[in-house]
Amino acid sequence: MCGIIGLLKLNESDSGIHDIVEGLKRLEYRGYDSWGYASINSSGIVMEKKIGRITKATFNHPASIIIGHTRWATHGNVTEANAHPHLDCNNQIAIVHNGIIENYLELREQLIKEGHTFKSQTDSEVVTHLFEKLQGDLFERAKQIAPMLRGSFSLVIMDARYSDQLVAIKNESPLAIGIAEKEAIFASDPLAFIDQTDDAIFLTEGDIALAKKSGNKITFEFFNYLTNNSVTKQSTKLDWKNQKIELGEYKHYMLKEIVEQPVVMRQGMNLDSAQDLANEMHNKKVIAIGCGTARHSAVIGKHILNKIAKFPLEVMMAHEFSYFVDEIDKDTVILAVSQSGETADVMECVRKAKKRGLKIISIVNVPSSSLARDSNKVFYTNCGPEIAVASTKAFSNQILAFYLIAFALSGEIKKQKIESVIGMLDKNISYFDLKAREIAEYLKNKVHVYILGKGVNFPIALEGALKLKEISYIHAEGMPSGELKHGTLALIEHGVPVILICPTDYTYHDSISNGLETKARGAYLIGISDKPHPSFNMWIQLPELSKEDEILYPLLETIPLQLIAYYTALALGRDVDKPRNLAKSVTVK
Ligand code: AGP
Repeated sequence: MCGIIGLLKLNESDSGIHDIVEGLKRLEYRGYDSWGYASINSSGIVMEKKIGRITKATFNHPASIIIGHTRWATHGNVTEANAHPHLDCNNQIAIVHNGIIENYLELREQLIKEGHTFKSQTDSEVVTHLFEKLQGDLFERAKQIAPMLRGSFSLVIMDARYSDQLVAIKNESPLAIGIAEKEAIFASDPLAFIDQTDDAIFLTEGDIALAKKSGNKITFEFFNYLTNNSVTKQSTKLDWKNQKIELGEYKHYMLKEIVEQPVVMRQGMNLDSAQDLANEMHNKKVIAIGCGTARHSAVIGKHILNKIAKFPLEVMMAHEFSYFVDEIDKDTVILAVSQSGETADVMECVRKAKKRGLKIISIVNVPSSSLARDSNKVFYTNCGPEIAVASTKAFSNQILAFYLIAFALSGEIKKQKIESVIGMLDKNISYFDLKAREIAEYLKNKVHVYILGKGVNFPIALEGALKLKEISYIHAEGMPSGELKHGTLALIEHGVPVILICPTDYTYHDSISNGLETKARGAYLIGISDKPHPSFNMWIQLPELSKEDEILYPLLETIPLQLIAYYTALALGRDVDKPRNLAKSVTVK
């Protein structure tokens, strides 16, 4: 994963290093185990690397060229030595890297034989030694080095002997350049330069970019090493509307993002886009792909499309898709679901599917993301930035998108029904909050939690369990309740918490029976339902929906489960927004 940034200013400025650190903070969602930056001053490269969260830079000298990095470890432990930037043997060249250099071992071996000394265990460090080894200006060396690298990478490189320029290489990992009046900012995500400019150039696969001071302006040159041609690039205007990140009165982004869901859902009622996607899907075989929460929403989408529009949707985990893509019929449409639009497994599917000639449509939150740019049609969930690693509001709006697409496919858009359910969320959110706190008090001392549901409620159970696992570190399993008696029931004993999602929909009676089977073995049963049941030890009451609208229950079930996860993690003193070992945007395979 990792976030990289590089700044080239026309004139030296006291604020350059500070700006880089602020930009890095906005990229911290991509990895947060260590961070660092390097700049050039009159005596050469000045560098600082630290373990842990991004704080403040120690150095503050005037600088016009600075690179920075926030890390999610892949190769090598979390140590200062493995944090980026990485320097060459003479401390003249510094690089930051996002991605994985797959052939680093052979390159490293060769470079060591030639006398280079490595200071880290990372795959990235080979790049800086390759720049040291080769001759020519930075741009020329980048053109020679890029084809030697295998894997996914975006790289920003500086050389103290060329202190008027920065060079970047992009293959598979995202990289954009913010163009401001007197500066150019390279970054993994344009969010890093939200305060500087709304003008951006997006690099595409194989691009090498040179930004250079030239008189009183910064000029750019582009070359694509995959096609071996010089290229011209146009900048795009970014729409920063709804993109500001403010925590406001909340203790954590996760809580803020849960609570703002009714508002965000209203923002996500994009009927025209739903119709566009429905038109692309009509009479076609459609395979939805995604990872984690996004895949759960696709599984819910499968049930929704089936119930509302009798439309058969196939769902695959993005990381399994590669094993099937060569056999997929060329007329098939791929529906990619992703909050970030940068998840490496998803983007790999998209690349492979495109290569096979398949059409790509997507449900995506980040408008400037690679997925949004690589899709034929996009439904924007329009949630604004989701900062907490645990995805909440993006999930609800992905489900919302599936309802709207299903309605469009069925020919009858029931907008008011959805609006009325959102109104119910408004009214009940404080009650859900209260109940979730009580339930968290019970769960916080438990080792295992089982969350059960049937039909459309099963993927909601999966999502509830994922939320609990990732932020509280309690083992939680989401299961179709009908599956219990085929093995898992053996694990139920006195006091084991079982959360049963059982609204009075088409799954109600079977779900209650399965809940009773756990109760008979000592389970502590927590019901999430519009109807009480004597077997419930605790109960979160959902608003009641009519028989005709029962397929909309998932919109009501989600927030209680998210709040249960939040308060349990809080009670355990976890780092709710940045859980251990994870990153928001998973940009490595
Ligand atoms: C959700 O809470 C997770 N952090 C994770 O499963 C996430 O949904 C997954 O990595 C996919 O991300 P995306 O939606 O940005 O593609």
